[in-house]
Amino acid sequence: MKGIILAAGKGTRLYPATLGLSKPLLPVYDRPMVYYPMAMLMNLGIRDNLIISSEEDINGYRRLFGDGSRLGIHVEYAIQYVQKGIADAFVVGADFIGDDSVCLALGDNIFLGNAFFSMLETMQLPEEGAVVFGYPVADPRPFGVVEFDENFNVLSLEEKPENPKSDYIVPGLYFYDNAVKDIAANLKPSARGELEITDVNKVYLEQGKLKVQLIEEGTEWFDAGSAKGLLTAANTVEERQAGQGEMFTIEEMAFRRGWISREQLAALGEGMKKTEYGQYLMKLAEDEDK
Ligand code: G1P
Repeated sequence: MKGIILAAGKGTRLYPATLGLSKPLLPVYDRPMVYYPMAMLMNLGIRDNLIISSEEDINGYRRLFGDGSRLGIHVEYAIQYVQKGIADAFVVGADFIGDDSVCLALGDNIFLGNAFFSMLETMQLPEEGAVVFGYPVADPRPFGVVEFDENFNVLSLEEKPENPKSDYIVPGLYFYDNAVKDIAANLKPSARGELEITDVNKVYLEQGKLKVQLIEEGTEWFDAGSAKGLLTAANTVEERQAGQGEMFTIEEMAFRRGWISREQLAALGEGMKKTEYGQYLMKLAEDEDK
C-alpha cells in the first residue's frame, strides 16, 4: 500500500497565518502539522509516501522530509497546479500509486490517542474496496457526514450538509483499492467546484464496497484548519504529552518498525537536543528495553 499526504489547500480559514506558509507546515505545539499524518502512515507500516502540495509550497515539505531516507522511508513529491479538490490527489498521484492500493491522509487532520495508533498498527488493510472512519462531533455541518442504520450499516454520505442526518463525520484518513484512480478520474466537480472525496466514497458505497469503521473512545480528532481548531489541537497535544506521555514522533515510528537503527535514532535526537522532542528521542535510544 502507498501513502499520500495532501497538503495543497490555501488555508483560507487561517488567514493571515497561512499567507506566507502552507497550513500543514504550521506548528501544532512542538512539530509541524504534517508530522501527524506522516506518523500515521508510518504507524500503518507504509513506507512509500507521496506529498502533494502547490508549486510555491512543495519545497517546504522537501526541506522537512527530503527523500525520506533519514526515517528509513521513501518520500516523493508532486505538485497540484490547480486546486481541484481532495479527490484530485488520485489523479495527480496516479503514476505514484501504480498498481497498488493507497491510503490518503489529509495534511490538516490530527488524530491523537494510544488506542487509535494501536488500532492502526494492527488494522487489516483492504485488498478490495474502501475503508473510512466515522467520528462523532458536536457540529458535523462543515464535514463529510455518514448516516447509519441501527446496525451501523451505512445509509448515506453527504458533504457539508445543512441538515446533517447524523453526528458522525468522515475524517481525513481514507483507504482505497486501485480502482480509486479510475473513480477519481471520472468524477464531476461538485457545486463548490471541487472533486469531492465524499463522491469517491459514494461510488464505493453504491458498489457495496465501503466499510466505515467507528473511531473508538479515547481517540481525539482535530481539523486544525481554523485558528481555534489549531489552538485546541496544540493544547490537547501538550496535555496528552504531559499526562499520558503520548509522543507519536515519526522518528519513533521509524525505530519501532526497524527502519532506522538505535544509533540513527540517537543522532536524530541529538540534532534536536534543546527540545523536549529531541530529548525524548535520545532517551528512547538509550532505553535498552524499547
Ligand atoms: C474535507 C472533506 C470532508 C472531510 C474533511 C475532514 O473537507 O471534504 O469530507 O470530512 O475534509 O477534515 P474540507 O477540508 O474540504 O472542508
